[in-house]
Formats: sequence, C-alpha cells, structure tokens
Amino acid sequence: MSDLFLRACLGEEVERTPVWLMRQAGRYMEEYRRLREKYDFWTLCRTPELAARVTLQPVDRFGVDAAILFSDILVTLPAMGRRVEFSPGPTIDRPVRRREDVADLARPDPLADLGFVLDAISQLRRELEGRVPLIGFGGAPFTLAAYLVEGGGSKSFPALRALLYGDPEAARDLLDRLVDAQIDFLRAQIEAGAQAIQIFDSWGGILPRHLFEGFAAGPAARLVEGIRRPGVPVIYFARDCAHALDLVAATGADAISIDEKTPLDRAADLLGPGPALQGNLDPGVLLGGPEVVRAGVERVLASVPAGRGHVFNLGHGVLPPTPVESVEILVAEVRRATTRGREDK
Ligand code: CP3
Repeated sequence: MSDLFLRACLGEEVERTPVWLMRQAGRYMEEYRRLREKYDFWTLCRTPELAARVTLQPVDRFGVDAAILFSDILVTLPAMGRRVEFSPGPTIDRPVRRREDVADLARPDPLADLGFVLDAISQLRRELEGRVPLIGFGGAPFTLAAYLVEGGGSKSFPALRALLYGDPEAARDLLDRLVDAQIDFLRAQIEAGAQAIQIFDSWGGILPRHLFEGFAAGPAARLVEGIRRPGVPVIYFARDCAHALDLVAATGADAISIDEKTPLDRAADLLGPGPALQGNLDPGVLLGGPEVVRAGVERVLASVPAGRGHVFNLGHGVLPPTPVESVEILVAEVRRATTRGREDK
C-alpha cells in the first residue's frame, strides 16, 4: 500500500514527493474520449462501473500516487432540486435569485440521491486493492452557491454579487444549507471508503477580503470541521486567493492547493506554518514540450520551503489539448528529482 500521498498531506516526512493532477481523467486521454463517444458525461458520472473505469485510467497509464473519483462538484445540485446540463459548460435551471428560491432548495439525502457516487467509491476501493489512496471530493459552499445563483459559469457573477450585497441574509442562509448538504455528502464518501477529501473552491477568489471570510472561508471552515476524521486529510483548493491565504489557512484544512499564479514559497509565507502545500504547476506548461515540462517541474520543486509537506499537482485542471506524453514526463520528473532514501523504483 502506498500512502505517500496521505502522509504528505498530513505534513509527515516522505521518501519522495507524491504527484497527482486535477482533472487527471478527461478529454486529453484517448481512453476517456473513446468512452465519451458512447456515453454522455452525466451517464459516466452516474454509472458506478463507468465512473470507476474512468477513475482508473490515469492511475493505470501514468502511475500517479492518488486516484480521484471521477465525478463532478455539480452532482449535488440535482439532489437539491436543480437540473444541470453541460454544453460543454454547465447550465443550472431555475437559478436561485431570491430568498424564496433558497427556502425551496431540497436537502440532499446522500444514500438516496447520490448513491451512485458512494457505490463508485466502494467499487474503486475494491479494485484499487490499496495500490494508491482514493480521493473523494465536493464543491466548497461558496463555489456551489456561485453556480446555483448565477445559473452557470461567469466572468463576473453579477447575479451572485447582487445577492451577496442586496440580501446578505439570504446568501448566508444559502451557504448554511450548502455547508450542511456537503457535510452529509462528504461524510458519506468517507464512510464509503474515500481516504482523503478535496474541497474545490474555484470561485471564492472573486471575493474581496472583507467578504471572503464570511462567505467563503467561514463556510469552508464549518465544512472542514464537520467532516474531520483522524487520518483522513482534507485539502482545500483555493483558486485565486493570494489576497486571503491567511483566511484560507484558518479553514483548518490539512493541505491547501495553490493555483499557478503564486509561487509556493510566497504562498507558504502567507499561509503561515500550518498546512501542507499542494500544487502548483501552470497547466499551460504541459503544452510546451518535454524540456519546458521538466523545467516547470524543477521550478515548482525549488519553490517548496524545506521541510514543508508538499503534494505535486497543477495549479488547476489538465487542459484538454494536453499531450499525454507531457503528463508522463511530469510524473517521471517529479519521481526522479525527489526520490531520496529507500524508495525502490
Ligand atoms: O479531477 C478529476 O479527474 C476528477 C473529476 C472532476 C471533474 N470535474 C470532471 C469533469 C473534478 C474533480 C471536477 C471538479 C469541478 N467541476 C470543478 C472544480 C475544479 C475546477 O475546475 O475549478 C468545477 C468548477 C466543475 C464544474 C464543471 N464541470 C465545469 C465548469 C465543466 C465544464 C468545463 C469543462 O471542462 O468541460 C465540467 C465538466 C467536466 N467535469 C468534465 C470533466 C472531465 C468535462 C466533461 C466532458 O465533456 O467529458
């Protein structure tokens, strides 16, 4: 059993730096594209056998040090009564714009509504047989609120900001409901066999500091607290949050995933001494050819403060035009450059 990844998240000393990539399964892999010709994205997510198969594709092909369940942060929204379609970006029907809409949201029952996620997790634990740990995940309350209110992705999230400033009480009610829903869902994932949890806060960074604590970090902290279990690290992906990393550290997550814009040594200074670091190679580097990939890996590794827990990853997901060879080179280079001591190869 390789538990390098779990130990690094918990800040323990490791023989080499573990590596996995956000969006490590997906369109850049031919194996995935072939399955996608037959099934739409939701069918892949909602069929445990298919979700398990896709999850294992990058583990088998690249030998990454962790598997992340193939699913999406938006799977919880239908369980709250809102349909989600991808074309290819997500659209959410009946966006939540007023307090009556918030009151109308259902509280998901993980077993009844999201059993397909839990089944995929238990099936994967059996199939992985301890080869690498399995990461479960979910959206941070703020990021899920952003999709629910805006009705999809956006550059500037005007409807969301109208709610935050126009009716902060309704916004707080919405976030409280999302905290509760995500506690239930992520606890159920841990019970089903998830060995670590990543919370994706892709949009928290749009908030100025004075709102970040109340609307993003505070709810995320309650979520972290609600799912804490000894030996099950929680990673918080705080995209675009360089202006608020001290508040991000205060969420209590074991590890913080940093985007590509902030070098890890600087991020560590801003976070303070607590959490391990995850990240943060620019996904664009993988489009630059072998030497660029190797140099990019070295630059990230050189930015990690001595003795600080580190999990190698990208700053954001793998881009669809990424050549698989770049991912092979990345994984090999992290291994070569960080192997020390007794790890056999
Ligand atoms: O990382 C993994 O390999 C696990 C699977 C995973 C997916 N989405 C699969 C996916 C994870 C962890 C996510 C998280 C997710 N989903 C986030 C947070 C991370 C981030 O990217 O900021 C967000 C914001 C979403 C919402 C979402 N899902 C969007 C905006 C889109 C459309 C954009 C796109 O890339 O096509 C998706 C679809 C999606 N989720 C795909 C995959 C592989 C593409 C689906 C396809 O067409 O095959």
